Amino acid sequence: EADLESKLPLKGKKILITAGPTYEAIDPVRFIGNHSSGKMGFDIAKSAANLGASVVLISGPTHCVVNHSLVQVVKVTSAQEMYDACHQYYADVDVAIAAAAVADYRPKNVANQKIKKAAEKFVIELEKTKDILSSLGDNKKQQFLIGFALETENEIENAKAKIQKKNLDLIVLNSLQDEGAGFQKMTNKVTFIDKDFNIEPMELKSKEAVADDILNKVIAHFHE
Ligand code: CTP
Ligand code: CA
Repeated sequence: EADLESKLPLKGKKILITAGPTYEAIDPVRFIGNHSSGKMGFDIAKSAANLGASVVLISGPTHCVVNHSLVQVVKVTSAQEMYDACHQYYADVDVAIAAAAVADYRPKNVANQKIKKAAEKFVIELEKTKDILSSLGDNKKQQFLIGFALETENEIENAKAKIQKKNLDLIVLNSLQDEGAGFQKMTNKVTFIDKDFNIEPMELKSKEAVADDILNKVIAHFHE
């Protein structure tokens, strides 16, 4: 029995993970999106399942695939759809990890028909999307809540502010400083900051290895 626990330390735990970009429609054939590959979230989902967790992976449009009996993939397109799906599963989970690159803004009006080219200038008015992670923080009960942060300046201070604003237990700060890290890359350079503001910079490593580091934090939480 002790053996099983060491091999499958997350057996019986339910984990919600968001991944990928969101697409925000402009008209029936166009959208505003971003370059997130989804790989980080999918790697976390695979590692978590390999450690015995039941995973609900809520993903925006990506080419990533996962084939594991413990991973249920819920495909969404927009930030609003991702928000709705997250809240459908959140009450029931032990851990939530927000790795998605959610659009901050979406077109205020979506055209019913393909927009025809006409004037020399064309302006799209945008409105804020809901902050999914903040809403999970607001509704937090038993969940251990992990967010990501992507910053290009005042990294640590901005990440700390996000921990407080979103009521997180842990934030994974992505450093774009490093050439090998980030969107569309196979590697990430991250710094962990916990809710007590303990700061732990990690080496540049594969996203698989970063996923394992994140799940080690989750395992440590359950051993507290
Ligand atoms: N996030 C989310 N819903 C949003 C925007 C962000 O759930 N509408 C989550 C991301 O998945 C990530 C965290 O919030 O885990 C931080 O995302 P980030 O873009 O770094 O921060 P924002 O709060 O959006 O602030 P800003 O982009 O202005 O830095
Ligand atoms: Ca953002």
